[in-house]
Amino acid sequence: MTDWIKATELAPLRLRKRLKVIVENIAIALFYVDGKVFALADICVHKGSHLSQGLVFKGRVVCPGHQWAFDLTTGWADQWAKCQPVFPVRVEGDVVYVKLEPQVRTSPPTPAHDSGEPG
Ligand code: FES
Repeated sequence: MTDWIKATELAPLRLRKRLKVIVENIAIALFYVDGKVFALADICVHKGSHLSQGLVFKGRVVCPGHQWAFDLTTGWADQWAKCQPVFPVRVEGDVVYVKLEPQVRTSPPTPAHDSGEPG
């Protein structure tokens, strides 16, 4: 069990909507969407493009490499049955914290995947 580690201040993430941070040598892409913060591994599981440079559309981040679309909550890419690691994230005051416990699904989430639990 790891501790919560400060990833960034909330203000620059809220302003830019996406931000790459390095936490203990791990590159993490943070996204701010509809008042929520999501944290995924920055390096794409397909061929290594940076998700922090991707576009967010309908709850997914679209990788700039080959346009795989990863669910911001689960990391799952429906069309390829692959999962981008996601990190537990929380906001406390003006600080965003992550836990370096990446979660990777091995099966698709159920339609109501709001639990965020890996499958
Ligand atoms: S590198 Fe991300 S989809 Fe190919």
